[in-house]
Amino acid sequence: PIIRLEDYRPSDFLIDNVELDVKLHPTETRVIATLAMRPNPEGRTDAPLVLDGDELNLRTVALNGRTLAAEEFEASPQSLTIAQAPRQPFTLTIETEINPTANTKLMGLYRSSGNYCTQCEAEGFRRITYFLDRPDVLSVYTTRIEAERDDAPVLLGNGNPVESGTVQGSDRHYAVWHDPHPKPSYLFALVGGRLGRLSKSFTTLSGRAVELAIYVEPGKEDRADYALDALERSMRWDERVFGREYDLDVFNIVAVSDFNMGAMENKGLNIFNDKYVLASPETATDMDYAHIEAIIAHEYFHNWTGNRVTCRDWFQLCLKEGLTVFRDQEFSSDERSRPVHRIAEVKTLRARQFLEDSGPLAHPVRPSQYREINNFYTATVYEKGAEIVRMLKTIIGDEDFRRGMDVYFERCDGTAATVEDFLNAFADVTRRDLSHFARWYEQSGTPRVKVKGQYDSGAQTYRLDFAQSTPPTPGQPKKDAMAIPVALGLVTHDGSPLNATCDRVDARGVFLFDKPEDGITFMGVTSLPVPSLFRGFSAPVKVSLGLPDEELLVLLRHDTDAFNRWQAAQTVAMRLLAARSTGAEVSHAQIDAFSAALASFMESDAQKDPAFAALVITLPSEADIAQEIGQNVNPDAIHRARTEMRRRIGLSCANHLRRFHESLADTGRYSPDATSAGRRSLRNASLDLLAAADPSEGESLAVRQLESASNMTDRLASLSVLTTLPGAVREEALARFGERYRNEPLVLDKWFTLQAAIPEDGTLERVKGLMQHPAFSIANPNRVRALIGSFAMLNQVQFNREDGAGYRFLASVVLRTDELNPQLAARLLTAFSTWRMMESTRRSHAEEALRSIAQKPNLSRDVGDIVSRSLEEN
Ligand code: ARG
Ligand code: ZN
Repeated sequence: PIIRLEDYRPSDFLIDNVELDVKLHPTETRVIATLAMRPNPEGRTDAPLVLDGDELNLRTVALNGRTLAAEEFEASPQSLTIAQAPRQPFTLTIETEINPTANTKLMGLYRSSGNYCTQCEAEGFRRITYFLDRPDVLSVYTTRIEAERDDAPVLLGNGNPVESGTVQGSDRHYAVWHDPHPKPSYLFALVGGRLGRLSKSFTTLSGRAVELAIYVEPGKEDRADYALDALERSMRWDERVFGREYDLDVFNIVAVSDFNMGAMENKGLNIFNDKYVLASPETATDMDYAHIEAIIAHEYFHNWTGNRVTCRDWFQLCLKEGLTVFRDQEFSSDERSRPVHRIAEVKTLRARQFLEDSGPLAHPVRPSQYREINNFYTATVYEKGAEIVRMLKTIIGDEDFRRGMDVYFERCDGTAATVEDFLNAFADVTRRDLSHFARWYEQSGTPRVKVKGQYDSGAQTYRLDFAQSTPPTPGQPKKDAMAIPVALGLVTHDGSPLNATCDRVDARGVFLFDKPEDGITFMGVTSLPVPSLFRGFSAPVKVSLGLPDEELLVLLRHDTDAFNRWQAAQTVAMRLLAARSTGAEVSHAQIDAFSAALASFMESDAQKDPAFAALVITLPSEADIAQEIGQNVNPDAIHRARTEMRRRIGLSCANHLRRFHESLADTGRYSPDATSAGRRSLRNASLDLLAAADPSEGESLAVRQLESASNMTDRLASLSVLTTLPGAVREEALARFGERYRNEPLVLDKWFTLQAAIPEDGTLERVKGLMQHPAFSIANPNRVRALIGSFAMLNQVQFNREDGAGYRFLASVVLRTDELNPQLAARLLTAFSTWRMMESTRRSHAEEALRSIAQKPNLSRDVGDIVSRSLEEN
């Protein structure tokens, strides 16, 4: 069935209070739920009570203390119905039995490395007990957890601990947790297991004492110290920047090894994929540290944007996710380098969200329908959702944005809200009509903006003409004009300041472009300028501006906006790469001019901000180039063009690159801070280009770096360079690395990924071989994503092999994983979303592979949904 936003109606019943009694057992866990319920005054008066379930085994059900006879209710694993529910408050007591060991879907209560844990968002609570499992039913929870003491010495729940003790005359113990904040069932969590603990006290701004703790596999406590530090910094930041304080006595985080997503914001008890908690210089890269910081912050920030204010229904998912991503991005920008972080955000947005928007899975930030909600935890909902919040802030300004947020929290605290509630807060404080802006939530697809500039030297004016259009997406053939904030400025050819003015540009330098076409004119333009448009990437659009390379490269040299300096270099590189990949004529002079611009940038600017420089000298990825070409794509041609371009730049900039590689070598103690990480990233980007220019020099530099590296970032970067250089040295290095880290699953994941990404013909066989490696497990999402996900998403040439073997392989893995873990299978399957842009041979192989999945009986709803949308004609 298809669920539609327009069909929303309030629940017919409410659950004010939940008492859960959970007796943990590996295969026969007993759950007794005592629910204090009443009819919803806003619901229907004649409706039956229908509770959601999923693979549940009902033992007994009692109404107001009286056990119901079989004919008084109807139960199946999927639902529990009481046709004649009372019309006044009542208590429902339900006993279910579940098997956490058999739960390979990793939704509901399951076991990971012998520990018990839960994942309830979006619809996992119904796998624990029958419930009104929808986000607009808010209840106060008290949870009693009981387990064998040796099996699970640590017992954690939501909220505050209230009681614990021994079960008389047994080897079992229990703990009782109470969460005073009403919450929807998707925020429920419990954990039981053998865990090590790292903790620290925190005092909130208003003086509340909070005990922070992170629980990890025993012996790995010291690998949680960075995460704990990030948590403390996140809490301070939310107090300072948004005025939001924490609201319980404890805040617990548990790291588990089997997890479908990154992490989960359960009230007072965040559960994390251990990949986003555990870090040491020996096992984690700079990028891992940055992700840990961002995800710790993200989940913490959900305490206000998600938990205190939650979502009315799952169509409003972006209300918490887009906003919370925006908040974690702002946090990382404040903690690190804002422009460098912004570039990283935009790179992922383009690689993932623009890609999604251009293919069969395109959907609005607030979808209007779904078959399986798990398939909507997407780059569009998260990343584009965050861009909408950022645009809102750009349009109304920092102060009004903060005032609007305050009003939103004040009005919506304790409620299940909608996107309209959010926008109304800002409309009210600014007295602006935001109805046109709201279209960003409804209309899918990436708008294209075409710009033409015209200089009149006599009148000293510069005119910019804008036109916008959005290509059709599934279900939306016709598109309207969007309200697009264009942050812009004019740059002179020599970088001298210009006092140009334009009455259509506000005090913050923003022009709001909200019609199909519009034009603005700058006055007092004393020399031919170069327009710098969409500074800081002020809107998630694709821009085309027919400037010649030389003029764009003026921006690389002189723009005050760092994002656009980077963008200028990327735009020129992309043009050259796309042209080369499609067989178009590219003169040597053009490539030389670009290399020369990069060389002069390296000469003058690189040392000032190595992190930024590393981004400037890194070419667009093969996947980015494919997306730019958009049709009839031949990944082999793209790979050749990019390799050749890396070689050319490596040759013409060799002296600078060698200098960076030597002078930025790590000497002191490893620190994951952004400045140190930036030095390493320039050093390693240099190594990559050097190796492209001269493989034998690259090989010896990489081998030396691999042997001497004091941290995982440098070690992995050198191994990665080696993977581009076929031969015995590489194989030897890979084998040694695998041996050295054989007991470190998270490091082996990186090793799997590197090998899966090798752009050579033997890679598919290598990947199949690695599936037999003792550390690999088809049941563990991290392993599967590291090896097979990377093959499909990162290895453009081998996944898209002309003979279709890459597609057939992925299809077979999808079918195998679907039997264990549909969410994981559906994620893998999204790698096919580019199939229509391939040239015809590949396209037909991909289609065949998709059809072979589609025709299998008993597909999960997750995979069935993705495969059918992927095959649908637009
Ligand atoms: N709310 C979590 C986060 O973004 C994601 C959980 C998604 N889980 C799922 N099964 N779809 O922080
Ligand atoms: Zn989130």
